[in-house]
Amino acid sequence: MIATDKRVQVADHPLIQQCLTKLRDYQTPTSEFRLRAGQLSRLLVYEAMRNLGTREIGVETPVGSAKGIVLTDYVILAPVLRAGLILAEAAQKVLPTARVYHVGLRRDEATLQAISYYAKLPESLPSECKVYVLDPMLATGGSAVAAISLFAKLKVSSIHLVCFVASPEGIKHVHDKYPDVEITTGAIDDCLNEHGYIIPGLGDAGDRLFGT
Ligand code: PRP
Ligand code: URA
Repeated sequence: MIATDKRVQVADHPLIQQCLTKLRDYQTPTSEFRLRAGQLSRLLVYEAMRNLGTREIGVETPVGSAKGIVLTDYVILAPVLRAGLILAEAAQKVLPTARVYHVGLRRDEATLQAISYYAKLPESLPSECKVYVLDPMLATGGSAVAAISLFAKLKVSSIHLVCFVASPEGIKHVHDKYPDVEITTGAIDDCLNEHGYIIPGLGDAGDRLFGT
């Protein structure tokens, strides 16, 4: 992992970078895009959850005693619809006990503002819980900030954003509003274009995932 600042981790593992390369390729069809996005999601989630809390326990094997661990954190997955669903699916496979709160946001194509259309969160959450906001693309950062704000309002102490590709502008936007948020990403790209797309990026993640 390359740490660009201590809050931002770029996952440079070759398996991750190979998946990301397939996603970037405009010739990759939807079926392979989904497959590769699923693989990338699992690997990124694995990297992002490296610091989960644990407690030591003893375990009996068929032939002796060993030391082991159990996970102690109350984990929340917050996929941003639509594209974040692929990350949530992968995260649930490795952590089936995690709670999932979906966040429905869409970017207005003209203003680039994130518009909320679904959010059903509880009135309170354990303050020590760990929230993973899942969204493949961190472009202007408007969607990430809107999703993070839902959990920040509930005084959650640990919020971690997991994405495939981030722009420098998006990272700055998130950290200007929420300096403590950690970010794990497959890449930090060059910039945004005039339509708010990440360059070089991978295009529209939702459209490419769902073939729309
Ligand atoms: C995409 C993407 C992010 C958002 C990023 O979703 O999945 O949620 O744009 O852009 P931002 O950082 O500038 O806010 P989109 O709004 O296109 O919705 P979709 O997943 O339903 O296609
Ligand atoms: N949303 C995407 O899906 N891709 C981008 O490059 C920017 C926003």
